[in-house]
Amino acid sequence: MAERNQYNFSGRHAIVTGGGAGIGLAIAHRLVEGGATISLWDRDPDMLEQARSTFGDVKPQVVTVDVSDADAVVAARDATLQATAGIDILVTSAGITGPNTTLWDYPVADWDKVIGVNLRGPFLCCRAVVPQMREKNYGRIVNIASIAGKEGNPNASAYSASKAGVIGMTKSLGKELAQTGIRVNCITPAAVRTGIFAQMTQQHIDFMLSKIPMNRFGEVEEIAALVAWLSSEDCSFSTAAVFDISGGRGTY
Ligand SMILES: NC(=O)c1ccc[n+]([C@@H]2O[C@H](COP(=O)([O-])OP(=O)(O)OC[C@H]3O[C@@H](n4cnc5c(N)ncnc54)[C@H](O)[C@@H]3O)[C@@H](O)[C@H]2O)c1
Repeated sequence: MAERNQYNFSGRHAIVTGGGAGIGLAIAHRLVEGGATISLWDRDPDMLEQARSTFGDVKPQVVTVDVSDADAVVAARDATLQATAGIDILVTSAGITGPNTTLWDYPVADWDKVIGVNLRGPFLCCRAVVPQMREKNYGRIVNIASIAGKEGNPNASAYSASKAGVIGMTKSLGKELAQTGIRVNCITPAAVRTGIFAQMTQQHIDFMLSKIPMNRFGEVEEIAALVAWLSSEDCSFSTAAVFDISGGRGTY
């Protein structure tokens, strides 16, 4: 593989939620390649250990946490702060899809769970780290939303609503912090083949591919490349913004 362009993250510490697998893990690798130290937050300790073993000399801190649990997120933040000088970057990638079914058949408990992980989770994580970022007047927050949050995918109402919520929350927080050194943005990927596909029906996966003009899925490294820029000091005049990465699907 050709050598990747790098941003300089030396001296920076990043939290990547959902860092045990998929997009989050690829982002963590990309940040480490640029010199960052990392805390991987995930709900699954086995996945975290497996993820940790994929790193070389600079092993990430791993923190088992359910991002929808308010007390657990505060405890994870405190555990991270004990292990590092401070938190410079937060990437919220933990997410679930929920069942693929029409809204009128959507089980209420599943709706609550999807909103809990995908929207309450990023809210709790941002809420936990922003005070410390404000103290040192520096931070980069990147929330992983989805093209589904802009367009609404049929048979994924909870997921689409949760991601639309992340877009709105990012816009609010970005404006609240606009006059500080903290930048808050989100990205809206189209489908990327990761473990999350196991949670979807084949019909839904086929639907998502059919909507992508490039006629292929995204790669986790492509998502990580955009997140790397958004996590860097070079991202200085963009905040409260939504970045498309959808193979041509997104039209706004
Ligand atoms: N893969 C795609 O097609 C795609 C497209 C657009 C957006 N996204 C978003 O990207 C993010 C990452 O997805 P992915 O494809 O890497 O999926 P993935 O399933 O490979 O990884 C998600 C990770 O989040 C963790 N997680 C789930 N619930 C959690 C919780 N309550 N607390 C802590 N960790 C939890 C999982 O254990 C897993 O390691 C998600 O927010 C997803 O909605 C994915």
